Amino acid sequence: MTKTIDKSQRTTAIPSEERLRQLKQLFPECLTEGEVDPEKLNNLLFCESGGGNRDKNINEIDKNESYRFTWAGKRTAIRLLNMPTEATLKPCRDNSLHFDTSQNLFIEGDNLEVLKLLYKPYFGRIKAIYIDPPYNTGGDFVYPDNYAKPLDTYLQLSGQMDAKGNLQTSNPETSGRYHSTWLSMMYPRLFLARQLLTDDGIIFVSIDDREVHNLRLIMNEIFGEENFIGGFVWRKKAGAGADSKLFFRQHEHILMYAQNIGRIEELFQPLTEKQRSAYKNLDNDPRGLWASTDLTRTGDNDPARIYEVVSPTGKKFTHCWTYTKSNFQQLIDNNLIWWGKTGNSKPKRKRFLKDKKGLTPRSWVDIALTSDGGRDLEKLNLSVFDYPKPVKLIKLFLQIATHSNDLVLDFFSGSCTTAQAVMELNQEDGGTRRFLMVQLPEPTPEKSAARAAGFETIAEIGKERTRRVCEKVDTGFRVFKLAKSNYQTESDVQTDDPQTYISQLEQTLEPLREGWRTEDVLYEIALKEGYPLDSIIEKVGGLAANTVFHITAPDGTQTCHVCLDGKLAETDIERLRLSKDSVFICRDVALDDTLAANLALQCHLKTI
Ligand SMILES: C[S@@+](CC[C@H](N)C(=O)[O-])C[C@H]1O[C@@H](n2cnc3c(N)ncnc32)[C@H](O)[C@@H]1O
Repeated sequence: MTKTIDKSQRTTAIPSEERLRQLKQLFPECLTEGEVDPEKLNNLLFCESGGGNRDKNINEIDKNESYRFTWAGKRTAIRLLNMPTEATLKPCRDNSLHFDTSQNLFIEGDNLEVLKLLYKPYFGRIKAIYIDPPYNTGGDFVYPDNYAKPLDTYLQLSGQMDAKGNLQTSNPETSGRYHSTWLSMMYPRLFLARQLLTDDGIIFVSIDDREVHNLRLIMNEIFGEENFIGGFVWRKKAGAGADSKLFFRQHEHILMYAQNIGRIEELFQPLTEKQRSAYKNLDNDPRGLWASTDLTRTGDNDPARIYEVVSPTGKKFTHCWTYTKSNFQQLIDNNLIWWGKTGNSKPKRKRFLKDKKGLTPRSWVDIALTSDGGRDLEKLNLSVFDYPKPVKLIKLFLQIATHSNDLVLDFFSGSCTTAQAVMELNQEDGGTRRFLMVQLPEPTPEKSAARAAGFETIAEIGKERTRRVCEKVDTGFRVFKLAKSNYQTESDVQTDDPQTYISQLEQTLEPLREGWRTEDVLYEIALKEGYPLDSIIEKVGGLAANTVFHITAPDGTQTCHVCLDGKLAETDIERLRLSKDSVFICRDVALDDTLAANLALQCHLKTI
């Protein structure tokens, strides 16, 4: 019996291929020779039901008109989204704090490449995303997506490759494609972000008046209009602030969308201090603090609810009540009626603070100003970043969307206010939420406070803030950096010179790039096989000749063995006691035909 040997994944999953697979699975009848036939699909969706006929009629009437949102470059942005990345994430122990024990993550890199790498391991695993992207002010939009070689631009920017020309661009309002450029930047990132959310996950996106209309449209397209939960208006300035001659803008927007609104039953934001202070315990009730609410009913005069009640002091009250007489009596029996301090006031219903889950979120947010964001950094002795969001603001969104052990992502993380908000909220409510920050190593301006303080990039500021807060709350974070894959990639052998081509092709027989490091390769294998970055990688003990690692996903659902040695010793392999369910990954060169055949029968063998 022969068994096939799989190749270990070298690239990331491609979103369009994954969707096509899902479509084929859902509608097998719309396939022609194995491919989806758009006409069949259209007929299936719009012509086979009664409602479909109505749509068909509409289509016929307005054949050349349809409601559609597009911009110059949209197709290219979609193409870019579907290009697999040639990158990996390298662990950086030096930059991390408690690398081996921490589940918090900071990734330095361009977020599009990073999101592509996170697609497989974090698909459907993130409960809340908060992002504060560049608002397209004309000067804040610095990262040019390179459609031909996406990774190269990043490698040049981060100093990992020689820079050709000036990479700093901005998107001035005078540019003919001012909004289009911004939309093309946002589209693939938001698209990938949606794939990472859990079914009941929520995304919050900050924005101001410049692009809020476009953001609504692009979010409607990606998340579905029905998944728009609401838009917050955040009051960010106390005074006027001269940003316009004709109008003082004191607010910003935060749009909130669900991954699937049908999966969200309720949302709460915490009570304000003032609302909490209304809860007292005037009768020392062992059930704790309570507030009282009116019991009289207005609007109708249901005779069944009009009756007389008598207070403990004998005072009589006749009203139309919200409860029937028997239910009212039950409330009295359970000490849930408050008759006032003297016992002869109009009765009220006691409601306990411990039973109050919070308030349904309010659109108007007036809890902290931009200046408070600056103060948050000041308190950490780190006033090196302009206009960070206030910690309190992001904490509010986390209180609405997350619980205990949830994972929170911010892929435009700047100074890492979101990381601080996650850690502080955990301290307050005993949660164990984890964060995943992504930030470009965008150079800080030359004559800035940041540069004077030794911060060359915004990523350095983000890491330092995270480190300072981690130290306060006794936790840590793992740092990874976006870098070129450890595998030789196709583009490595692109040359016009036949001689160079042959010699480069020979080199690709060795799949790993020269100078590879074991830990880097282990993390690349883990990532591309779909293991989250906080997976546990341990060396297997008790082997004589080989070094074998065991990778376990944090939730224990996935495990595999990896050996990167040039030759495998059969005695060591036997000691691993591999079974049919075990996955064993090794280098192609380490196997001869007999060993490969034996191993493939014994376990799920993958080679690199
Ligand atoms: C408005 S700031 C976020 C500020 C953050 N909310 C805070 O409170 O500190 C946007 C950040 O996104 C970063 N950024 C822009 N393009 C990026 C990209 N392609 N990948 C990763 N980060 C990016 C910028 O460097 C900037 O720091």
